[in-house]
Amino acid sequence: MCAMYSSTKLIACALIFAQLLGTIRCGVYDLTDNWVNSDKTANFPDNAVLGGIDSDGYNSYVGRIIYASSVLPARVRAETGYATYNTDVIANQAAAYQLLISNSTLSYSWVRSYDGFRENNAVSVGTSDLNERVYVCRAKVDNGIFIGTLYLAKKMCFIRYENFPLRQLSKYEVLVRNVTPFLPLFNNQIN
Ligand SMILES: *[C@@H]1O[C@H](CO)[C@@H](O)[C@H](O)[C@H]1NC(C)=O
Repeated sequence: MCAMYSSTKLIACALIFAQLLGTIRCGVYDLTDNWVNSDKTANFPDNAVLGGIDSDGYNSYVGRIIYASSVLPARVRAETGYATYNTDVIANQAAAYQLLISNSTLSYSWVRSYDGFRENNAVSVGTSDLNERVYVCRAKVDNGIFIGTLYLAKKMCFIRYENFPLRQLSKYEVLVRNVTPFLPLFNNQIN
């Protein structure tokens, strides 16, 4: 009787575990853009992408980190390598991160957006623990312009920086990539 009871419990546990495996996944990096590993000991790359300015007046560059099986956008200070990020709940700091890098044919800009609208060429940092793409947003709050975390399904840009409260914005800007098309010169053919 006792043995039967415990084996039923074991099966229940196995079923719950299988369900968890089915829904919770490890976030993976998006490979569309160029990201480089960095930390405060590394030289700050010249072509990192500017995202905002924090409440202490430092420029914030676009980074990404992995936290609790989710890939998330990060804001990085060039001067100190101080990196922070947030989910829709917590705010945290990171010692190591990746920085988004532009080049002569791949640049980035910010476009106004709202309500989780999926903008063309929006930059995804990767996927969340729910296997949803995570995007980079920013907004003017708390005496700065802060890079935040955009979950399209939640229709909000989430920004939580240090001790400031969690900000949830339905109007924000989204980071998009501008691919400069290769334009051959036809000057010789005009005349
Ligand atoms: C810029 O980066 C993209 C994506 O990795 C790459 O395809 C492209 O060749 C790069 N352009 C230059 C000029 O290096």
